[in-house]
Amino acid sequence: MCGITGYIGYREAYPIVINGLKRLEYRGYDSAGIMMYDGEEMHLSKTKGKVSDLEIITDRDEKRKRGTIGIGHTRWATHGIPNDINSHPHFSNSGELVVVHNGIIENYDTIKKELVKRGYIFKSDTDTEVLVNLIQEVKKKEGCKLGKAVQLALTQVVGAYAIAVFDKTKPNELVVARLGSPIAIGVGKENKEFFVASDASPFIEYTKDAIYLEDEELAIIKVGKGIKVRKIMDDSMVDTNVQQLKMNLEQIEKGGYDHFMLKEIHEQPKAITDTYRGRILANEGIIKMSSIDDNLPRFLNADRIIIVACGTSWHAGLVGEYLFEDLARIPVEVEYASEFRYRNPIITTKDIVIAISQSGETADTLAAIKLAKSKGAFVYGVCNVVGSSIARETHSGAYTHAGPEIGVASTKAFTTQITVLSLIALKLGREKGVLSKPAFQKYLQTLQLIPKQVEKLLEIDDQVKYIASVYKDATNCLYLGRGFNFPVALEGALKLKEISYIHAEGYPAAEMKHGPIALIDENMPIFVIATNKGHYEKVVSNIQEIKSRAGKIIAIVTEGDTQVKEIADHVIEIPETEEAFTPLLTTIPFQLLSYHIAVMLDKNVDQPRNLAKSVTVE
Ligand code: M6R
Repeated sequence: MCGITGYIGYREAYPIVINGLKRLEYRGYDSAGIMMYDGEEMHLSKTKGKVSDLEIITDRDEKRKRGTIGIGHTRWATHGIPNDINSHPHFSNSGELVVVHNGIIENYDTIKKELVKRGYIFKSDTDTEVLVNLIQEVKKKEGCKLGKAVQLALTQVVGAYAIAVFDKTKPNELVVARLGSPIAIGVGKENKEFFVASDASPFIEYTKDAIYLEDEELAIIKVGKGIKVRKIMDDSMVDTNVQQLKMNLEQIEKGGYDHFMLKEIHEQPKAITDTYRGRILANEGIIKMSSIDDNLPRFLNADRIIIVACGTSWHAGLVGEYLFEDLARIPVEVEYASEFRYRNPIITTKDIVIAISQSGETADTLAAIKLAKSKGAFVYGVCNVVGSSIARETHSGAYTHAGPEIGVASTKAFTTQITVLSLIALKLGREKGVLSKPAFQKYLQTLQLIPKQVEKLLEIDDQVKYIASVYKDATNCLYLGRGFNFPVALEGALKLKEISYIHAEGYPAAEMKHGPIALIDENMPIFVIATNKGHYEKVVSNIQEIKSRAGKIIAIVTEGDTQVKEIADHVIEIPETEEAFTPLLTTIPFQLLSYHIAVMLDKNVDQPRNLAKSVTVE
């Protein structure tokens, strides 16, 4: 996730901005940059790599550090690979405007083509450089001031943004705006100085007075005068609400959550939206994914899809198997990358291998990709980290756009991977004629309800906390699910194991009779997914079998369920959705449950023992 910092006032801006960037490092990034204005010239320094790499550049020349105005950025690549040129800030062609941007401008390509026709030249592959030139074009065409030009330009863009813009012809002002990405303004005494940042951590020691912009708001910040906030779309003025910050630095970095894992669990509504943003074109009723469109015949004629991955990503792959087979009628095999690479797998040129990885760096998955390529398969990547090794090694692919995942236990990576796989399966299902137009449309509409449903589901936190307090001392747990929710049972068990160190197993519910049932007694909590579709009656029978052996049942059911409620010890309700999308909801209570149990047992939630976020060795 990108980070923005900026300062305008009377102090030396460089240390404020550079330290601000360091404070934002926790968000994850691949490049960093800073623009310093010394009263005459703007000095730009930027590089792929860390803020410490940026400091090596600025240390070479004191001019790069001079001035009382500066804006800085840590970039998490979305458009264009991580490199020096794509790093922010970006100048407009005139050299007067400079911008830093978080988010994604979805219609950047259309705007870029228009600007190219008008003679604009682009150095980078970024959507941000398109935005700053659009602002320049509007400013020139309308003959307006910076604030108005930014506002008018933003009415033309589709997507998400937090931006800070500086115009060297108006050096006492900064313009910031937001839609979908956060931006905070720190207000100095008597309006003599202002700070801008993605959160308050870069300026907390300078001021506790902060304004958090709401979506579709734009602020014009003028030194000596103050701040004016307006609505971007209807131009109405907004009363500025200056808040008194009470948080400490660490709390701010974690967005007020106690742990990154909890923050990331709560980020899922946004992460899922970001995953399908710009891919579901609601007005046209289509899914647009250039990585699939460009290879459509290959996908439509594929003999089978082989999914390779590890850990949670492998579980997402298993959900993918159900999705592809059900929605697109394509045969699928899901393989542990570590096994696949050392077998002598039969792969043909008509196979498509989908490699799934949050980090894009998992050694076994990378090796499996190389093996598949050597055998002539087309390899498609589903990664979160832009420009990662797997993203580069695969022939084509789709990013999940989940934003950085810092907690070792994957949460939003899982749900966003399933979202990408759902999009691909739906698209292929429609292209192959497996899904009728109305059925496809219904799926699209239902998928777009998921973020709100996850949001609502997260409100059950207290209920899950209570259940966690009842079962936190268990030494063994069983997770059961069928069909689409069998992989969720595996994932639920993995989450519990890795952060609470309690032994847990996931099973397809019907397999219980073939072994695990022997373990059941009054000390065994059993988490069962029993949503109303997908073999409901069969799962209810499994629950009866557990009950008659005194097992404790914690069931995940669909809202309005009555049957399971009568038998289970605890029930957690999830909203109604298509069966294919239930994993996006049923996994949420399991994430919260493991989190709360781990906290209650005083475990290191974000960095569990013996585990690494990215397993780059086999
Ligand atoms: O980065 P990747 O998705 O390739 O990582 C794969 C696994 O190492 C990862 O999912 C691991 O299982 C997580 N810690 C699970 O929470």
